[in-house]
Amino acid sequence: MLAKIFSFALSGIEAYPIEIEVDVSRGLPAISLVGMADTAIRESKERVRSAIRNSGFNWPSERITISLAPSDIKKEGASFDLAIALGILSATQQINSQSLRDYYFLGELSLDGALRPTRGILPISIAISKSLPAGQIKNIILASANAKEAAIVSEIYVWPLKTLRETVEFLHNPQMLKPFKLDLRDLFKRNSGYPLDFSEVKGQYLAKRALEVAVSGAHNILMIGPPGSGKTMLAKRIPTIMPDLTLAEALEVTKIHSVMGILPLKDGIMGTRPFRSPHHTSSSVALVGGGSLPQPGEISLSHQGILFLDELPEFHRDCLEAMRQPLEDGFIRIARARKSFIFPASFMLVCAMNPCKCGHFNDLKSSCRCSTTQLHSYRSKISGPLLDRIDIHIEVPAVRYQELSSNLPAETSAQIKERVDKARVIQRERLKDEGILCNALMSHKQVRKFCTLGKEEGELLKMAMTELNFSARAYDKILKVSRTIADLSGSENIKTEHLSEAIQYRSLDRDFFL
Ligand SMILES: Nc1ncnc2c1ncn2[C@@H]1O[C@H](COP(=O)(O)OP(=O)(O)OP(=O)(O)O)[C@@H](O)[C@H]1O
Ligand SMILES: [Mg+2]
Repeated sequence: MLAKIFSFALSGIEAYPIEIEVDVSRGLPAISLVGMADTAIRESKERVRSAIRNSGFNWPSERITISLAPSDIKKEGASFDLAIALGILSATQQINSQSLRDYYFLGELSLDGALRPTRGILPISIAISKSLPAGQIKNIILASANAKEAAIVSEIYVWPLKTLRETVEFLHNPQMLKPFKLDLRDLFKRNSGYPLDFSEVKGQYLAKRALEVAVSGAHNILMIGPPGSGKTMLAKRIPTIMPDLTLAEALEVTKIHSVMGILPLKDGIMGTRPFRSPHHTSSSVALVGGGSLPQPGEISLSHQGILFLDELPEFHRDCLEAMRQPLEDGFIRIARARKSFIFPASFMLVCAMNPCKCGHFNDLKSSCRCSTTQLHSYRSKISGPLLDRIDIHIEVPAVRYQELSSNLPAETSAQIKERVDKARVIQRERLKDEGILCNALMSHKQVRKFCTLGKEEGELLKMAMTELNFSARAYDKILKVSRTIADLSGSENIKTEHLSEAIQYRSLDRDFFL
């Protein structure tokens, strides 16, 4: 007997339908699987055999052939277990084959027949809702833990089940359950609070101000300071002052996290901006994405949020170089012989580093033990082209005891965010015909157009460029950042105070290490 079952598989961050055929015919007992399956799928034979037996069904002593179509695409994961098991039960007439036609099946089986969650459910439910003509019923059967994520797409019927046995009972008697539904807006709202707040950071007023400016214009930022000065603490709180995630953005973010299997299953949808902090030993594939079946990397997991590179000089140079293009484009294209994959990667880059190897150069509390050669070699580890994409560098000195022990209330994230939101509205309005949303994305031509200076301001910038020995690359960046500072203060023109604040945010250009 032949049985046909439907499921879905992932390719990058998109999903495509899979047709599983199971044929049970006379011959020596054997099981073969065809259709470019990876090890996890090939191992499903063993899981399915135990699950079928332990659920009280019979395992056929015949020849079983399982085919996964389309056969020319590599497939991976354990999510076909349930479909394969039902295919075998249908081909051996232990369940009614008619009942299988209206459903897509997804889930891994444990040896005792329990249904386990799989990754990538959101892109799959989006693909299901798009794949069939409007009005047609779109049913998906999966593990209970995947239900919330699947039900984000309201056009499909989600049937969460616990075991293979329960699935068979349900297929024979679909009236026994009601489809799982959720209130997406309510779930999104409930998940959208942050557990951290800027008011927990004592002192560091200049650093906080620089972060406010950076977030307002979406400028990439580098913090330089001695150990324990609070750089990591500040960075972790940046998402709390970024504009709220829209529902559409949240779906994009959730989709990527779902594909990587790191979506908290109890949440279903990500309501907050991601904050990713990969370790400096990470490989370039882990950072930008890749692999034989390409998967998104850290830059895509930080999409719509923050990518924090702590201890920047310790990162491998080729990893940092690999990030240059996506930083410019907002996405990464990974080409393979048969297909090229595009993963979104529009994030704000936040970096931190010590001022020198021992960490205490320019530190008022401890003296630095590094030689000039060590200082230079430490600095030369930062990739020049990456530095080119960072608009703001600031020094974060050690916080003083009086500030640390003070009980004075500090500004909350909500208060800072209110100003950021206002500055973003001004930028969006100004740049609406340019196809960009914030100042950091302005091209050289757009900087010329939108960052014009008066006579006095022009003189100031000229002086800074010559007297402070700024490099040419600092020029556009100072103009962009002063445009953001002017927007924060609601000023139409860039004034000297905006310009001089922006000039302060070029620590590395001011021969910081010498
Ligand atoms: N301004 C501050 N207000 C309150 N606590 C602070 C502040 N700065 C530092 N701390 C405390 O010091 C700890 C260390 O700070 P953090 O890890 O952010 O330092 P760092 O600059 O990242 O250091 P390193 O260079 O070693 O990575 C924090 O967890 C926090 O408890
Ligand atoms: Mg740190």
